[in-house]
Amino acid sequence: MDEDSRIAAVDEIPEDGSFLFTVRDGFDTEEAILVRLSDGVVAFENYCPHWRDIRLDKGSGAPRRDGELVCEKHGATFECDTGHCTYGPCEGAVLEEIDVTTADGSVYLADDRYEFEKRGSSGDHDLSSRGRIGFSGQ
Ligand code: FES
Repeated sequence: MDEDSRIAAVDEIPEDGSFLFTVRDGFDTEEAILVRLSDGVVAFENYCPHWRDIRLDKGSGAPRRDGELVCEKHGATFECDTGHCTYGPCEGAVLEEIDVTTADGSVYLADDRYEFEKRGSSGDHDLSSRGRIGFSGQ
């Protein structure tokens, strides 16, 4: 595996939250989250399909309830393994998956669309006044 595409050790991904990281697509960066499953790891882009400017993981892990990811804004819930929205204003929508693979206890980016940029936040949301992100950061 290419060390440049290594995101994290599997053990670093919380079982009750998510692990935030940033990928690059040319000049653009996108945030994504690693989600730990009982039998592996999946990754999704870090936004809610209801309002794409709302992040699921705001830096301390996306909330999980009964084995599902929860968007704190309006309470939509998503299956951790498929990203399928089971309840909420975007019911039926699906989180955008990012391909990752695991080897020797580590998770690697395996998606041709992106390069691994860094662990953690992109930082973009701190600088912009995009959309519905208000002063509270909600
Ligand atoms: S922004 Fe996520 S449920 Fe509305």
